[in-house]
Amino acid sequence: MKILGIETSCDETAAAVIEAQKGDKTVKLLSNVVATSLPLHAKTGGVIPEVAAREQLKFMVPTLDEALKQSRCKSTDIDAIAVTYGPGLIGSLLVGVETAKTLSYVWDKPLIPVNHLYGHIYANWLMADGLWQMENKNHSLSAIRYPHAIAFPAIALIVSGGHTDLVFMKQHGSIRWLGGTRDDAAGEAFDKIGRLLGLPYPAGAAIEKLAKSAESDSAKAYNFPKPMIGSNDFDFSFSGLKTAVMRTVQSQTSQITPNSQTATDICASVQQAIIDVLVKKTLTAAKKYHAKSILLGGGVGANQTLRDQLKQSAISHKLSAEFFCPPKNLCTDNAAMIAAAAFFNYKEVPWQKITADPELYFD
Ligand code: KG4
Ligand code: ZN
Repeated sequence: MKILGIETSCDETAAAVIEAQKGDKTVKLLSNVVATSLPLHAKTGGVIPEVAAREQLKFMVPTLDEALKQSRCKSTDIDAIAVTYGPGLIGSLLVGVETAKTLSYVWDKPLIPVNHLYGHIYANWLMADGLWQMENKNHSLSAIRYPHAIAFPAIALIVSGGHTDLVFMKQHGSIRWLGGTRDDAAGEAFDKIGRLLGLPYPAGAAIEKLAKSAESDSAKAYNFPKPMIGSNDFDFSFSGLKTAVMRTVQSQTSQITPNSQTATDICASVQQAIIDVLVKKTLTAAKKYHAKSILLGGGVGANQTLRDQLKQSAISHKLSAEFFCPPKNLCTDNAAMIAAAAFFNYKEVPWQKITADPELYFD
């Protein structure tokens, strides 16, 4: 079957087509188109919801058109439509949800509402041969081919601009929330700290780049707090870290320009503090729940140091869990992950019953 995915929960307008048959362990990516209004938000240092939704209204139809064209599908080839119905910005969600409902009605196709957070987890199943074919054709996609299927039970760490959550997955369709951030999300911490250092929004990738350029002991230059690293639960907190960096920046303003040694040391130390907490909690969860797989998802999952350290720690702690992460371009928001989540959790809902839910969370 072929599923058309639509994702508009934040500032991206995305459409994708995936293909899979009943019993498949991964899904094939036939197209994956993402239009972003990020350059507009970079100017203001954050997403302005009204601006994002207006741009999405302009981008939605051309994005859909392009996704169908790239997949070489006509509307009649599509078997179902999957759409993100929450969580996210209400104006943005409405663009995708109303578009999907209209298509479902006009094309007479089933509609599957998808939780955006499930989507980030299911980016891990987008590892089919199709991706490799596309990668060979256009070098913008970097894919990792999994030697075998993801085994359950699994622990998934979702780290994005809006969320930091640890969940336990017994099997497809059975996801239990273990814990999450009590204040800022990990990506939000990267973005806010980047702003303190004069880096453009969103700052996660820029902080990673500066940290990479740092001396090997730069990550130890500042002893920033690692909030809740020792707490006996699966919750996180990153606002204290942001405050600690703010104090450091305020005490050294004269030396801090975005490419200075001080900024580089701060980036390396901050990145390590965040990663230490994420790795510790994820490994503890994997151990406690006897996970066979550890999955990473969300924009912060594109961070190579996080990917490397999660993988290495699972090995050095002799966990029997195997580490999986999506290709970097599929960690950030996209519609292919929404279509993949729909395939593995297939549940049609009449279009009349679907409404955008900005506050949607895990059950
Ligand atoms: O998943 P995503 O695209 O959107 C949300 O659902 O929030 O995540 C965006 C977040 C931003 O906070 C961005 O700074 C962060 O992901 N991010 C990174 C990296 N690339 C994106 N954080 C750390 N290292 C990166 N390489
Ligand atoms: Zn997201």
